[in-house]
Amino acid sequence: MALVPLTAFSQKAKAEKFAVGQFNINNMEFIQGIIAAAEELNSPLIFGVSEGAIRYMGIDFVVAMSEVASRQVKVPMALHLDHGSSFDIVMKCIRAGFSSVMFDGSHHPFEENIRLTKQVVEAAHAAGVSVEGELGSIAGVEDDLSVDEKDAMLANPKQAIQFWQETQVDMLALAVGTAHGMYKGEPHIHFDVIQEVAANIDVPVVLHGGSGVPDESIRKAIQTGVGKINVDTENRLAFTKAVRETLAAKPAEYDARKYLGPARDAVKEVVMQKMKLFGSVGKA
Ligand code: G3H
Ligand code: ZN
Repeated sequence: MALVPLTAFSQKAKAEKFAVGQFNINNMEFIQGIIAAAEELNSPLIFGVSEGAIRYMGIDFVVAMSEVASRQVKVPMALHLDHGSSFDIVMKCIRAGFSSVMFDGSHHPFEENIRLTKQVVEAAHAAGVSVEGELGSIAGVEDDLSVDEKDAMLANPKQAIQFWQETQVDMLALAVGTAHGMYKGEPHIHFDVIQEVAANIDVPVVLHGGSGVPDESIRKAIQTGVGKINVDTENRLAFTKAVRETLAAKPAEYDARKYLGPARDAVKEVVMQKMKLFGSVGKA
């Protein structure tokens, strides 16, 4: 199947109260692990690609490998720029073949975020590409993005509703108390913010920083209006743990396939757990 925009499943997710997982990709093994999970569970899926991952793999490799992956599965799959920082990178991704982009203007003043996001929406929608916007600022570190806990700022629900009305983004990421990376304690999620915004906009809310959030909180977030959840760190940890374990057990191993294979299986395992938790199983 060809790559699809988020709008291929966003309304269904909102109506049927499930969330589609965005899983960030870093190499072929992540890609294969993620699609194997989605195909086995008949779940829609989203590949998330950060600007750092684009620099690492090269944009042509990202698109080519993702297109091959999408042709190998029957489930709908989006190739989505994660936390795009400028109009330029968004356009570069659209031209290269991404089916969806996130423009993260959350660090700009509110009016400026609206103005810049609107420009992105206009260009992306003309190309049939969906757009995710962001409001508030999410704590933690994700590739090029680093926000100190004291600088994290919850999204204001009234502003979020206005932001959606003016920009017409296809999904709206809100800072509601989760963070990028693993948590020291338990995250305090502001479900009231999710609920108020979700009830007043026509598109799903996106939850970033999905790694390490307790299952109960994830279920509640979906019930209150989250329709897309981003997961990166948990896959990185599982991948690296598998590589470490293989090499610790066989220090003389030098065949990359022998330690990357188990790492690919570890990613598949994490993604399957998340798809079951997110309720996206059988929703393709
Ligand atoms: O944009 C990607 C994410 O929000 C992933 O966050 O690494 O905490 O799972 P995470
Ligand atoms: Zn994020």
